[in-house]
Amino acid sequence: MLYSIVHIIHVLGVILWIGGLAFITIIVFPTLLKTTDPLQKVLQFQRIEHRFAPQARLYNLVVGISGFTMMFGMGWHQILFTPQGVPLMFMLIVWVFWAVMLFGLEPLVIKRMLDRMASSGEEMDIDGVFRRMNRLHWVMLVISLAASAAGAVLVHGPRLF
Ligand code: HEM
Repeated sequence: MLYSIVHIIHVLGVILWIGGLAFITIIVFPTLLKTTDPLQKVLQFQRIEHRFAPQARLYNLVVGISGFTMMFGMGWHQILFTPQGVPLMFMLIVWVFWAVMLFGLEPLVIKRMLDRMASSGEEMDIDGVFRRMNRLHWVMLVISLAASAAGAVLVHGPRLF
């Protein structure tokens, strides 16, 4: 029963987190790229980022804590470095990557960059920066979906039917 609750928390955390990332990548960025006023573009993104970044940090913690609880609870840490443990290792690597991004790079680099863009107005190539950020979000989304698929393979196995 307790294991099921942790499992459900893990999956719901993944849905809210990666679903939010998908929404930003697929819906928000293309909408912002169509916004002609550079200052509006930056301010809108800053508002969304301000709301989503703390939530993403929380989801990262929830997914991590529930994941580690399941892994050690089931003794699966013993298969981490075996072929059977590849999906688990992949989830773990993607999670660490995200933790570094959300708790390290995002507050230090992205926040500062957005502030700089908001104050520089027309001087910076804001469209170019947004296109690069959109590409980066696509890469992170694909990697995160691959981690979700790895989770499903771990639970249900790589069966064809
Ligand atoms: C980006 C990070 C992660 C994503 C997107 C992710 C996603 C998923 C998904 C979709 C499942 C499958 C659930 C199901 O089919 O019912 C799953 C299961 C699982 N995940 Fe993760 N996960 C992540 C991080 C982690 C971490 C850091 C750990 C532990 C170190 C972990 C440990 C597990 C375990 C043990 C299961 C299997 C649960 C079971 O068999 O009942 N995950 N994960």
